[in-house]
Amino acid sequence: MSFTIIEPAKSRLNRSQLAVPGSQPKLFEKAWQSTADIVFLDLEDSVAPADKVAARANVIQGLHAFDWSRKTVSVRINGLDTAFMYRDVVEVLEAAADKLDLIMIPKVGTAADVYALDMLVSQIEQARGLPHGKIGFELIIETALGMSNIHEIAGASKRNESLHFGVADYAASTRARTTNVGGVNPDYVVLTDATTDAHGRDNREVHWGDPWHYALSRLVVAARAYGLRPVDGPFGDFGDADGYQAAARRAAALGCEGKWAIHPGQIPLANQVFAPSEAEIQRARRILEAMDQAAREGRGAVALDGRLIDIASIKQAQTVVDKARQMQQAG
Ligand code: COA
Ligand code: MG
Repeated sequence: MSFTIIEPAKSRLNRSQLAVPGSQPKLFEKAWQSTADIVFLDLEDSVAPADKVAARANVIQGLHAFDWSRKTVSVRINGLDTAFMYRDVVEVLEAAADKLDLIMIPKVGTAADVYALDMLVSQIEQARGLPHGKIGFELIIETALGMSNIHEIAGASKRNESLHFGVADYAASTRARTTNVGGVNPDYVVLTDATTDAHGRDNREVHWGDPWHYALSRLVVAARAYGLRPVDGPFGDFGDADGYQAAARRAAALGCEGKWAIHPGQIPLANQVFAPSEAEIQRARRILEAMDQAAREGRGAVALDGRLIDIASIKQAQTVVDKARQMQQAG
């Protein structure tokens, strides 16, 4: 291991993350009752400029109206380049910091953006007599600048808990040619070399690629390097469950802990894809038991089913068992 030790961020379930427009308080109760691990009440891009002030009041009211303690609740503030952000932070935290777990910062571009918010939030916590660090940060990486500076951003504050891939704004920022949010693109394909089959017919094949592979991989690496949760962003076509599941499985395969849901129908899909299976949980428990036994017997090397278990598998087993316990607590 490196001499540099990274403390992992506070551990939370983050399989599904439901977006709820702050301008639609009627949706808050449904979000609160949902099985989403994290709910974020949005003040940013799902709220029109004319509704920003009212949305802020709705969000404060919503944080008080329901007992959010059995799930994680977050508020997405406006960007640092707007005239709304400072009041989002000051008003929401002064009125409801004790009800809130996280704030989500959109379009983070540099580590200094995170530093600025850290300073502001620290002052409010101090003024309100709240424990320092009560409010954690979720950072959306959704611009070319943010993706370029992602490593410095990930390490910019002890409040950082997770990095989120904001695919729609990222596509706009990089001028990627895309039509549906988080979907694939028929132009992003590989055409196999020209060959002919036994009947002389051309049998070139078209293989669809994942245009978000690089961005999401980079985000996973930066998040994990700094002990944060990597989370995949939205999938816009909420009628396409298969498309959503495929995107979620790809993200899970790369190491993401969860995915956004913009509609309640996407929550169970994410919870299912990102939960460890019963078989995985059982195996993880057996790995940890084998490790305990080896320690009791003073053996350094740990074996299970006749095969050596490496340190990385043991760490992963601990993560799986922790997640299973959190899932049980969430009900
Ligand atoms: N949170 C909580 N409840 C939601 C919800 C959400 N994000 N989206 C939909 N619902 C509710 C609806 O109110 C409806 O409730 P009802 O059965 O009591 O009437 C139910 O779930 C089914 O919704 P449906 O009618 O299928 O969808 P819709 O047409 O009402 O809404 C959207 C579709 C996309 C407008 C809506 O899902 C939405 O606003 N999503 C969030 C978008 C967002 O936050 N974007 C920013 C981040 S990318
Ligand atoms: Mg965005």
